[in-house]
Amino acid sequence: MHQRCIECGATYDLHQRLLACAACGDLLEIVVEVRQSPDELKALWRERRMSNDPRDLSGVWRFREFLPGGYQRVVTLGEGNCPLVQGQRSAAWAGLRNLSFKHLGWNPTGCFKDLGMTTGVTEALAAGAQIVACASTGNTSGSMAAYAARAGMKARVFLPAGMVSLAKVAQSIDYGAELVEIDGNFDNALETMLASGDGEVYFLNSINPFRIEGQKTVVFELMTQLDWQPPDYIVCPGGNLGNSSAFGKALEEMKAHGLIEKVPRLIVVQAEGANPLARLWRKGSGELEPVSNPETVATAIRIGNPRSWKKAMRVLRFTQGMVLDVTDEEIGDAKEMIGRDGIGCEPASATTLAGLRKLVAENRIEPDASVVAILTGHVLKDPAYIIKRHQYVAAGAAEVSAH
Ligand code: F0G
Repeated sequence: MHQRCIECGATYDLHQRLLACAACGDLLEIVVEVRQSPDELKALWRERRMSNDPRDLSGVWRFREFLPGGYQRVVTLGEGNCPLVQGQRSAAWAGLRNLSFKHLGWNPTGCFKDLGMTTGVTEALAAGAQIVACASTGNTSGSMAAYAARAGMKARVFLPAGMVSLAKVAQSIDYGAELVEIDGNFDNALETMLASGDGEVYFLNSINPFRIEGQKTVVFELMTQLDWQPPDYIVCPGGNLGNSSAFGKALEEMKAHGLIEKVPRLIVVQAEGANPLARLWRKGSGELEPVSNPETVATAIRIGNPRSWKKAMRVLRFTQGMVLDVTDEEIGDAKEMIGRDGIGCEPASATTLAGLRKLVAENRIEPDASVVAILTGHVLKDPAYIIKRHQYVAAGAAEVSAH
């Protein structure tokens, strides 16, 4: 396995410590090499479910044939193993007959970031890092802080002041992180963090390709849950676009290695006030134009300048995917329906159901299609939003404002 630049194709050793391509500055990705046959892999992964080896108990490392390796110590909290639940009321609301939710909010810190942090922090530890850092809208920071604590490393988190759910800030504090509050939004926090680098600090935002590798396993686990019968569509929210890129990379690799024949179409849903990818998609080609003042109640995806947009565009083309945006009101309605199914999620996750309802109404998805929506964060990640919306709805107002 090795690292490769997504733009110029320059290659680097797997464990060479780089943040970006040394030749052109674009993002790196990891190129996997897998020797086993599809049947061998499927049997091996099934067998590991009977094992108590911590790597086999992890829903990420269970699929380690497709992950970077050679580690003395794997930093794991038993992440992954997230259920696939039917959402009957939600399905009827969206006009679908076959909808399930894969709920990544059931991870150790309550969101999907754990899947990428187990691989990212494991790599950081192997690289000898003592301080890890990230900019975050709240989930990446909580997750990184937890895994850094497990590894005995110091965590430094750059947060946009006043724009992160208190529950998430509290998590980072609880896991012992050092908080740096930035006067600005997530994009400013990321710029500040990148400029703060002195070679000592190991960066763990999703521009780090080792994060993407762990997040990729969501789709591997999903296929085992579906007995290797791919759905027609996989739907996820889009912020910095690491997650959608990771899901698409998994599909590319599974197809290339003969694990699946049919490739599900990937649908990315953004909030209307933070929709640079949806705008680019509608335009059809060219460069991403950042949204300078991103605004949405779904604070997790309040991002105007997503770093992984090129990766996301590539996998959307590969899967013949779609990108769309939804209003804050639609997000609130969808979130309420997911709650009525007894599932619950944070606002950013509800973009999935809101997007699906819109696509069915516009005849862009068939009501009989099999659909898996990825819920990215736990309902308790943003309790203030729920209370606020409840009060507004009780008062007869339609929408909760971002502040
Ligand atoms: N859903 C939730 C709950 C998130 O926290 C995020 C991103 C996303 C969706 C979007 O994923 O960025 O890979 O497209 N949260 C980051 C953070 C930005 O800092 O916690 P993405």
